[in-house]
Amino acid sequence: MQRVLESALMNDPEQAAAYGGHDLDNAYWLFEQCFTKYFPELIPDGAFLDLGCGPAAIALRMARRFPNCEIHGIDGAPNMLAQGRKAAQREGLEHQVRLIHGILPDKLQTPRNRYGVIISNSFLHHLADPMILWNAIHDYSLPDAAVLIIDLLRPATEEQAHHVMNTYMADAPALLRRDMMHSLCAAFTLDEVVSQLQKAGLAECLSSAKVTPFQFAVYGSLTGRK
Ligand SMILES: C[S@@+](CC[C@H](N)C(=O)[O-])C[C@H]1O[C@@H](n2cnc3c(N)ncnc32)[C@H](O)[C@@H]1O
Repeated sequence: MQRVLESALMNDPEQAAAYGGHDLDNAYWLFEQCFTKYFPELIPDGAFLDLGCGPAAIALRMARRFPNCEIHGIDGAPNMLAQGRKAAQREGLEHQVRLIHGILPDKLQTPRNRYGVIISNSFLHHLADPMILWNAIHDYSLPDAAVLIIDLLRPATEEQAHHVMNTYMADAPALLRRDMMHSLCAAFTLDEVVSQLQKAGLAECLSSAKVTPFQFAVYGSLTGRK
């Protein structure tokens, strides 16, 4: 199936509420599990940068898990950020989780110039040019940064995309099912992601793996990056 772009920013308030609710808890849980699996020894003590943080569901989880770290999330959709700020306040985490408006590839106004951990979930497929994400990793990382990116894999056919949706999102609200279908069609294949890593000069330090039937992870430490 050819890639079909979906709209980049997600500023619809209903989308912000849906992504900040509980229907995607499995995806957020998977991200945490992968972080533990790929970085079992890591005890971060600086700051995380979450690219395309949406309503900060993952930023909040990381904040709870690493209370000594700040989590800085950037997103281009003000309503997503507003939803995330409300959630951070509700949990008393507003001093630890800072959400900043920014649209990549524009220069981001982040509190720090460079980060020890860079994370991103379900963001890559929104970008018309995927190199925007991999270049941002170069631009905002410390030399030994840990990186975890998780995103969808584009199925081979539209029928397979429907199958994924009906298998894994059968009970989700209509809005999330609609978005999931668009996102699967906009996503990359694992081969395409590997080519992107090679082009970005990241293939030697970051690994990639299929982590569910419809998601991949790119992970590793940038130590030794050329
Ligand atoms: C599918 S959501 C994922 C949100 C969050 N990472 C999560 O896992 O719930 C993708 C997010 O990327 C944001 N986004 C898309 N293109 C962007 C860009 N060029 N710069 C910044 N944010 C962008 C959208 O506004 C949206 O909030």
